[in-house]
Amino acid sequence: METLVLIHAFPLDRGMWQSQVEALADRFRVLTPDVFGFGDSPVPAGGWTMDSMAVELAAWLDSLGIRDKVILGGLSMGGYIALAFAKRFPERLRGLILADTRADADTPEARATRNETIDFVKANSAAVLIEKMLPKLLATNSPSEVARVKELASKQSVEGVVAALVALRDRPDSTAAMKAFKFPTLVIVGEHDAITPPALAEAMMAELPQGTLVTIPGAGHLANLEQPAAFAEAIRTWVMNAKIHES
Ligand code: MLT
Repeated sequence: METLVLIHAFPLDRGMWQSQVEALADRFRVLTPDVFGFGDSPVPAGGWTMDSMAVELAAWLDSLGIRDKVILGGLSMGGYIALAFAKRFPERLRGLILADTRADADTPEARATRNETIDFVKANSAAVLIEKMLPKLLATNSPSEVARVKELASKQSVEGVVAALVALRDRPDSTAAMKAFKFPTLVIVGEHDAITPPALAEAMMAELPQGTLVTIPGAGHLANLEQPAAFAEAIRTWVMNAKIHES
């Protein structure tokens, strides 16, 4: 069975993939690791970077005995990590999924906002941060999805969230590297994504030699939570049409 690794968004944990794990388990061995500092994963001494998380991921796959190529996907922050992995370990990928994410680095203004957010989280908590972020995360704001996002974020530690904000702030630009990707890449974006809007998905598509774009209607930034069935179907269809198993 093919391995599909899915990496979660900020400031959530692997629990955000529950629906996709259930929907895709018949076809894939779905693995959903926690990023450093989230869920059950500790923050490494000295913090982490997108690249060090990619290295950790490769070591973790090794520890599971997974030497075959995998399909690796990530949403938003998870997408940044998936891009870092694709740059460092291209030979380990059968396909890449970049969902509600972007390839460029933070602008000076965005970096300044990260620093303000770091101060805000230190003075408050992840639960308070998510209240502030919520208006931009979901398009439909259904009470059950809002509750789910709050539940996932509220569990996260201040230390973990701060370390991630540093990694997000300092991430490199991956735009140029995408031109050399020799594996099929699925770009997914929520139609109403207010954080990484469809224009950014199209910008990535312009660089990707083997890109497929799927826009998910009725979804915002956390497209997999808001439209779980459509998100899972996008992956299933792409794997079939892009002949991933033969690549
Ligand atoms: C995420 O959803 O992971 C974050 O919005 C990523 C970011 O802030 O750049």
